[in-house]
Amino acid sequence: MAVEKLVYPAAERNKNPILSVLKRYIQPGANQTCLEISSGSGQHVAHFAPHFPHVTFYPSEYESHLLGSIGAHANGYSNIRKPMLIDITTDFRLWGNGIFKPNSLDYIYNANMMHISPYQCTIGLFRNAGQLLKNNGLLITYGPYACDNMIYPESNVRFHNSLKSQNPEWGLRDIKDLKQLAAKNDINIVEIVDMPASNKTIIWKKYMNKIGENLSSTDGKSAKT
Ligand SMILES: C[S@@+](CC[C@H](N)C(=O)[O-])C[C@H]1O[C@@H](n2cnc3c(N)ncnc32)[C@H](O)[C@@H]1O
Repeated sequence: MAVEKLVYPAAERNKNPILSVLKRYIQPGANQTCLEISSGSGQHVAHFAPHFPHVTFYPSEYESHLLGSIGAHANGYSNIRKPMLIDITTDFRLWGNGIFKPNSLDYIYNANMMHISPYQCTIGLFRNAGQLLKNNGLLITYGPYACDNMIYPESNVRFHNSLKSQNPEWGLRDIKDLKQLAAKNDINIVEIVDMPASNKTIIWKKYMNKIGENLSSTDGKSAKT
């Protein structure tokens, strides 16, 4: 029996605007890799992959019941690997039978997870990205964010309040806090792109020190929070 392709209306609306940002940042060049954290229905990865045939996409989900939909959307695209279960709060060495190696990925993409999950997921996203991305590799995140303790416009305030009422651990993350978390994991912000419906795509870049090691793994003071 064919597995149902779930279709989220929001993903249908935002997939083209996000694709136009990806087209500015995904580089030409063979054998690149992109890990997607929390692929949801699988609409995003299936929409993006045909535009970047030189990139191998690894979709993933925390919710096992979504893997079928992701696989159904990905069906027929030779550069999308089988979706895997990933809990971003765990260390990457526990994922996918060890297929992910330190400093090996060109891109990590994550949409709409940070505000709809406990903050531990955001911490895990930056921690694993700091470990997994190559030097100059990109973490690309999409969603609504707070900026310097302010949430705007009013629709985002309402959204934040409704998330908090569903789960006090959810809510819009502040870019100011994310920058600090990123820095602890050797990641800098590159660009914040305003998107439709008061969302943003944020481009983050991993950097290494001169001897090519992650600063966070060599500097005790920058221990992860
Ligand atoms: C609103 S959905 C976003 C799905 C998709 N990225 C999109 O934009 O349509 C939030 C996703 O975060 C995922 N999530 C929640 N906790 C997670 C965790 N610990 N690790 C990875 N993903 C998680 C959920 O399973 C869910 O698919």
